[in-house]
Amino acid sequence: MAMKRIGVLTSGGDGPGMNAAIRSVVRYATSNKLEVMGIFRGYFGLINDELKLLNHRSVSNIINRGGTILKTSRCPEFLTVEGQKQAVETIRKNQIDGLALIGGDGTYRGAIELVKKWGVACIGIPGTIDNDLNGTDSTIGSDTAVNTALEAIDKIRDTATSMERIFVVEVMGRESGYIALQVALAGGAEEVVLPERKFDMPTMCHEIVDGNIRGKVSWIIIVAEGAAKGEDIARQITEMTDLETRVVVLGHVQRGGNPTARDRTLGTRLGAEAVRLLMAGETGKAVGVISDDINIVDFEFAVSKKKLETEAAYRLLKILT
Ligand code: ADP
Ligand code: F6P
Repeated sequence: MAMKRIGVLTSGGDGPGMNAAIRSVVRYATSNKLEVMGIFRGYFGLINDELKLLNHRSVSNIINRGGTILKTSRCPEFLTVEGQKQAVETIRKNQIDGLALIGGDGTYRGAIELVKKWGVACIGIPGTIDNDLNGTDSTIGSDTAVNTALEAIDKIRDTATSMERIFVVEVMGRESGYIALQVALAGGAEEVVLPERKFDMPTMCHEIVDGNIRGKVSWIIIVAEGAAKGEDIARQITEMTDLETRVVVLGHVQRGGNPTARDRTLGTRLGAEAVRLLMAGETGKAVGVISDDINIVDFEFAVSKKKLETEAAYRLLKILT
């Protein structure tokens, strides 16, 4: 039976570019005579029947805005069978034939449940600043987050150089060092601490002291939150070197702001592709982009641990400092 109505939701941590994806889902679907229900607050809205019919105009003037007009949440109730049952009831009651879900690996794991246990047609669109989903070079929000963090690091460099100080900058990424590695390279940092890589504190402190003797007195050390607390790294540096440090935790500023061109085009391309797949009767798949071509993978592969190549980039970073 042909699809008549789909639902779209954003779930988990928001990321700039999610609105571009929502706009694309809505307009691509309505251009193909499908109705679109916007589901608010991710799985929470699905459980609690918080839905609204969206049309072409509902998504005007959002392509440039960070966050998500559908709002998002982390929803522990959806981990339970009871929660999922209620969500499926909402889907049936609202006569939704398929879902486009914009989110990260948790969102995809939820979608796997909907597909496998409850027979709901689901297509995933990768939306997370962490860039930790397989099957896509980039996830919506990650490029903006990297650029936001980089802008802050450039500013920190000005004061670090002027006052000849050591700065430890903590960036987001609970399990992923993607943002940290990108900004370390692009910001010319002296050191980076990643969850994916063993780190040797005494070696770094030795380099700092050695550099100090040679007249190198300002340092930018990037720490991914999943690897260590910036505060702890700074304290250990002071204990081992007797040098003063300053700590900056960039935190949630990395999740906001106007999306970069890259995140807008990614959201736009992937939103339309997700609807195309739903119309073609596909389910259990996630869309992505590899080498600028659309790439489609199973949810299971998308959530399998993505390998971040750290060694070549780290070596280069150290050669260039
Ligand atoms: P993200 O999608 O950004 O990774 P979360 O990990 O918080 O964010 O996941 C978003 C939501 O997906 C969770 O709050 C929960 O409702 C749902 N979810 C996560 N993991 C599972 C799972 N194993 N089974 C069912 N639902 C899940
Ligand atoms: O969305 C991913 C992310 O921003 C991680 O980088 C970070 O560790 C986490 O979400 C923070 O989650 P919350 O906003 O719930 O504190």
